[in-house]
Amino acid sequence: MKQFISVDDVPGVPQIAATALDYKKNPFKDKGLGENKTLGMIFLNPSLRTRLSTQVAARNLGMEVVVFNIDKEGWALEMNDGVVMNGNTTEHVKEAAAVMGQYFDILSIRTFPGLKNKEEDYTEKYMNQFIKYAGKPVVSLESATLHPLQSLTDVITIRERWTQPRKPKVVMTWAPHVKALPQAVPNSFAQWMNAWDEVDFVITHPEGYELDPKFAGKAPVIHNQHEALEGADFVYVKNWSSYKDYGKITCTDESWMVTNETLKNTNDAKVMHCLPVRRNVVIADEVLDGPSSIVIPEAGNRVWAAQAVLSEILKNR
Ligand code: CP
Repeated sequence: MKQFISVDDVPGVPQIAATALDYKKNPFKDKGLGENKTLGMIFLNPSLRTRLSTQVAARNLGMEVVVFNIDKEGWALEMNDGVVMNGNTTEHVKEAAAVMGQYFDILSIRTFPGLKNKEEDYTEKYMNQFIKYAGKPVVSLESATLHPLQSLTDVITIRERWTQPRKPKVVMTWAPHVKALPQAVPNSFAQWMNAWDEVDFVITHPEGYELDPKFAGKAPVIHNQHEALEGADFVYVKNWSSYKDYGKITCTDESWMVTNETLKNTNDAKVMHCLPVRRNVVIADEVLDGPSSIVIPEAGNRVWAAQAVLSEILKNR
């Protein structure tokens, strides 16, 4: 594997999931793989899980890790080519990425969308500038439109729990939020579910919250949450802002919050969320604190997803 930006970079969803679950059983089996190799973790935005789990994963492989909060500790970056830099930006990504490429064997980056300019976000301008100038393999720690480490985690979380011969019904439901959030997690989850033929995948959201068809694919979209959740084995809860009315909140209907009542018609579904989650806005306490929730082991699986990805890249170098 040369980079990890989306599902298109992996050898196959079942294969990379098997590698991740293998590491879960035996975390230190490849302790020598990353010897004398350094992972740079560059954050333009905050993180808890991605930051910590990827460091643990890299160390399990024997790598050194350097974390750099470039948004707070670095020079203000210029991302546009050909500009006269007489404003607030101090260093061009051409130099910044190339210099970091001199120090690290793998460069990992988190860069959120601005949610103002759809074209800029959906062409992955920031991530692509780092890929272009780093000269080293790049791993996404979440980009403007995708969060593939989270999605691989979600695949293994479903896979390790599902033992029946039939495919599980996996429903991704929109839920309310007080802030306009990126579409990266739902885009990515949809992309991975659509690429994985071991699940029946359904999306439910209010009208106006359609995801980019490039990611939603042919997944059935049902605007009635109650109907969509019928018989669900896994409920994946996430808020996102509108893609159509870009970056806007166009629905505040609290009835979309996931409660025990919401889950009544499911097949005793397990509830997933990438975290962080706003309690009693997105998901009710009674769900998060009850037997349906698997959000903590889901977050725990972030380590194995990151370890699988880093190992595949190290093996290729
Ligand atoms: N789910 C996730 O990526 O969490 P963080 O934003 O805390 O890394």
